[in-house]
Amino acid sequence: MTTTDAGQLPEVAIRRGLKDVYFDRTRASYIDGRAGKLLYRGYSIHDLADHSTFEETAYLLFYSKLPTGDELAAFEADLKASRTLPDEIFDIIHAVRHAHPMDVLRTATSALAAFDPEVNDNSIEATVRKGVRLTAQVPTIVMAHEAIRNGRQPVAPNLSLSHAANFLYMLTGEVPTDDAARLMDKDFILHAEHGPNASAFTARVVAGTQANLHAAIVAAIGALSGPSHGGAAENVMQMAMEIGEPENAAAYVQRLRSEGKPVMGFGHRVYKAEDPRARHLREGVRRLSLEREEPKWYHILEAVQEAMRPYARLGVHVNVDFFAGVIYYLVGFPPDLFVPIFAVGRIPGWTAQVVEQFENNILIRPLTQYVGEMDLPYIPIEERG
Ligand SMILES: CC(C)(COP(=O)(O)OP(=O)(O)OC[C@H]1O[C@@H](n2cnc3c(N)ncnc32)[C@H](O)[C@@H]1OP(=O)(O)O)[C@@H](O)C(=O)NCCC(=O)NCCS
Repeated sequence: MTTTDAGQLPEVAIRRGLKDVYFDRTRASYIDGRAGKLLYRGYSIHDLADHSTFEETAYLLFYSKLPTGDELAAFEADLKASRTLPDEIFDIIHAVRHAHPMDVLRTATSALAAFDPEVNDNSIEATVRKGVRLTAQVPTIVMAHEAIRNGRQPVAPNLSLSHAANFLYMLTGEVPTDDAARLMDKDFILHAEHGPNASAFTARVVAGTQANLHAAIVAAIGALSGPSHGGAAENVMQMAMEIGEPENAAAYVQRLRSEGKPVMGFGHRVYKAEDPRARHLREGVRRLSLEREEPKWYHILEAVQEAMRPYARLGVHVNVDFFAGVIYYLVGFPPDLFVPIFAVGRIPGWTAQVVEQFENNILIRPLTQYVGEMDLPYIPIEERG
């Protein structure tokens, strides 16, 4: 029996987790992790969060330029026209209604492929059109499931409302306040694109085989569903609940650290300065928790940030999920919808990544170094002990 060992193997550099590996070039977004800088197609995330809407930001990601007023109006009309779902999708959601919302979203998005008129057209133009349709359809899936699993009729999309306001409207059937809609809009802008993280990379791997956009996005939803990627917002809310009162925060953080556990909503694979998206939601949490007369949540988050201050020297800073979870909670979303909300915002980014992959496609196929046994003698089944 021979076992491979370091002596027999050719020297190879292994980058576990593909950390710090560049595999292609992109024009979708720029991240400077040390400076805490994020640009979508060259535009600062701060300008987009402060001055644009999700629709404008999605247009930028789909068409690589900011829209004129007329272009934006036509794009908004396109999105609204695609908000409804085929009846069969509601039947499918009903059949799987007891599953986790991410599993339901993945299943329903996969089923949508059967109804898309251009499903197997991988031209750039058709891929963008499909991305626009999915951007409009995914929020309806998430909210239809929320209604169906609670024994309610889904709320039909309201075509007079923006993307974000309509999303909130489909939760309750009530038109949201301007403040709540604007905060949701900002949240979608901040989640719209973020380079080749696990879900976008997954989408690119699938597109690399020349599979279609629906296949790539279904796979991306699967990757996003894992707690190391999309789940942190939910974990932060759970942490805030466990902390209970601001004065308990320091001891809670100390206990986690002494057990070697990470504090949720802190740290990032790429950002070693504060995540630039976080500041836009920090103010949102403050205002919303006052408006909903639950200021405690903002104070708990402030106390956790204070307790985490010593870790800044290790490059561990607050990330976008730290504030997002409390916002979703205050707006009235159940915790298991926090990851699907991330997916709602990310469809334009995933589409932009797939379009880039198609523009200069190559099969993505890395290597693993074999370290198992070699050349074992084959023993017939009746002779195996
Ligand atoms: C996101 C995450 C997986 C990044 O991990 P990473 O890139 O491998 O970061 P590193 O392990 O290089 O971190 C460097 C140091 O900071 C510490 N650190 C990282 N994140 C930390 C956190 N959230 N709380 C406390 N310490 C943390 C690490 O323990 C490590 O210290 P060490 O060198 O003494 O072991 C990690 O920060 C984490 O688990 N965060 C919490 C979950 C979260 O909020 N995820 C959402 C990301 S948007």
